[in-house]
Amino acid sequence: HKGEYRHFMLKEIFEQPEVIATALEGRLSEEGVLVESFGPEAQALFARARQVHIIACGTSYHAGLVARYWLERYAGVPVQVEVASEYRYRHPVVLDDTLFVTLSQSGETADTLAALRFAKTLGYIGSLAICNVPGSSLVRESDLTLMTRAGPEIGVASTKAFTTQLVALMLLTLAMGKAQGLDDAQRAEQAEIVAALKTLPRVCQKALALDGAIEALSQAFAEKHHALFLGRGAHYPIALEGALKLKEISYIHAEAYPAGELKHGPLALVDSEMPVISVAPNDDLLEKLKSNLQEVRARGGQLFVFAEESIGIRDQQDVRVLGVPVIHESLTPLLYTLPLQLLSYHVAVLKGTDVDQPRNLAKSVTVE
Ligand code: M6R
Repeated sequence: HKGEYRHFMLKEIFEQPEVIATALEGRLSEEGVLVESFGPEAQALFARARQVHIIACGTSYHAGLVARYWLERYAGVPVQVEVASEYRYRHPVVLDDTLFVTLSQSGETADTLAALRFAKTLGYIGSLAICNVPGSSLVRESDLTLMTRAGPEIGVASTKAFTTQLVALMLLTLAMGKAQGLDDAQRAEQAEIVAALKTLPRVCQKALALDGAIEALSQAFAEKHHALFLGRGAHYPIALEGALKLKEISYIHAEAYPAGELKHGPLALVDSEMPVISVAPNDDLLEKLKSNLQEVRARGGQLFVFAEESIGIRDQQDVRVLGVPVIHESLTPLLYTLPLQLLSYHVAVLKGTDVDQPRNLAKSVTVE
């Protein structure tokens, strides 16, 4: 039921603080993650794993791309991420002690399921499914499972399913790190992330207060035919996800680039008709990103920047800055997703498209 909301998508966007809290429930102790949340065999498999392969489609694939940055940075585990429809037709070389992970909202996506079945023939140490639907095929056929607990998602555009996948993947990152053994510095870092995770529902609630401001600026997109999304590091996949959302429900052609790639081609597209949306969290890459944004401005591009107010990108004629609340840097990819969901939603509403049921798409892709 949509309740007070005009569309399921909007309802599901606003449910995120609550479902994120639910996704965390009973899975954290004071200082760390409870590894047994992934099942009784998780401790042994995570301790043994030397690398991880993550396979998924669409939005779930973008969650996997974020997890690569997290697992490498916080658990020291090398990761490969690939879309299921490519993976299943390759001849993957699987090194000893590799864990196979699938991500799926539905647990019934044909390519992801086929990839899992194929993987079982390739000598992985085991499989983990991160999924939203208990009892789905993917859950039944995997060794370990972690449910994302987002509740039913009706809108075809994935929103709360994505952010709860990110929560699950951060739990995986912490669990893998713990199972592999942590030094003192890593233990302290984990404790910081755990503390930040506990504040996440509240901070997400604050980010959703951007709704009115985003609705107001959606006007700037309604007549546009293209848009460019930029991010760096773990926010490059967030840019990809922002672009996918805009394409999917507003039918505006959108592309995402890691900002460092601008000069290698896409900068040629930038003129006053090209809105450029950038997620600019306050991290090590911010200064580099700022100079990339200067390159866009110099070409007459209209910039929309999501950033903490304190970082000093000023609102001016060709730059609109939307202030995002502060959170521990490990969790900014999740937080910066919310305003991009709202942006695509409001642009679609303005264009009058069928937000919950975009043309040509199905919620669950159960055929190849
Ligand atoms: O159920 P799944 O997570 O396996 O679905 C994968 C994709 O079909 C899905 O994420 C799709 O990309 C969404 N419609 C994007 O919003």
